[in-house]
Amino acid sequence: MKSNSVILSGKGVTKVFGFGAHKTVAVDHVDFSFRQGEVISIVGESGSGKTTLAKMLLGLISTSEGEIHFEGQLRDIRSHKQKKEYWKNIQAIFQDPFSSYNIFRKIDAVLLDCIKMRGGGKFPYEQKLALMREACSFVNLKFDELTNKYPFELSGGQQQRLMIARVFLLKPKILLADEPTSMIDACSRATILDMLMALRSEIGMTPIFITHDIGLAYYVSDTVYIMERGKFVESGSADEVILRPKEAYTRRLLNDVPKLHEEWDLSTV
Ligand SMILES: Nc1ncnc2c1ncn2[C@@H]1O[C@H](COP(=O)(O)OP(=O)(O)OP(=O)(O)O)[C@@H](O)[C@H]1O
Ligand SMILES: [Mg+2]
Repeated sequence: MKSNSVILSGKGVTKVFGFGAHKTVAVDHVDFSFRQGEVISIVGESGSGKTTLAKMLLGLISTSEGEIHFEGQLRDIRSHKQKKEYWKNIQAIFQDPFSSYNIFRKIDAVLLDCIKMRGGGKFPYEQKLALMREACSFVNLKFDELTNKYPFELSGGQQQRLMIARVFLLKPKILLADEPTSMIDACSRATILDMLMALRSEIGMTPIFITHDIGLAYYVSDTVYIMERGKFVESGSADEVILRPKEAYTRRLLNDVPKLHEEWDLSTV
């Protein structure tokens, strides 16, 4: 794994909201280096700056300071065209699946958009249909039962799976998953994780999990970054950081998960 090249890295990445007395430093000079194919987790308490960092990585909000490099090059997404090109490489699944969809677009339109984004806009409809069916079956959704529905007509779990179907079609190099499983029960949570991990090997993407759940981080990741009040206070291999934490903050996060090993023994699910 270590021999893989760096896909996304940052130096001094900072986000300040507001100014003067109302200033919030949400992300405070973080450095990181994510390798292609590695599973990464960013763990921290609520308000530590995880989503803000994710939004900067995605280019949804600007950085106040610092540099982000994608595939070894300084990321330049100033124009709309550059952004669109960048978003072929990096996609996200958000805490609230609702926020990810235009609620006035039916499910087949949502999926067709993904095919178009990957350059399949001119494919014959039969081929598009086959792709949509394949993506839905990958996440155990029945395309033919969904085609005339809107995303808000799906259950929470189905919406989550639809998001993964989108990722299946988009085939990004990096997938940011911001608390993808927080809304659903433990069993579907394991299913979603399995799907994301299967997708990882299927399309060779680099997943980045953003979570307050250090147990999840231990279970899924190669590398863990611990975030406290906008800063990375500790990082390293999952074993290093979670089994031999150096920081009191990391130990505190661990105390919230008393049964770390038991809880993630998925053989019992
Ligand atoms: N648009 C904004 N304007 C002002 N302050 C913001 C904005 N977005 C986030 N913040 C602040 O930045 C800090 C970090 O927020 P962020 O959403 O990144 O935390 P988080 O780690 O994702 O938390 P959670 O685990 O609850 O999702 C918080 O203090 C938050 O209030
Ligand atoms: Mg968040």
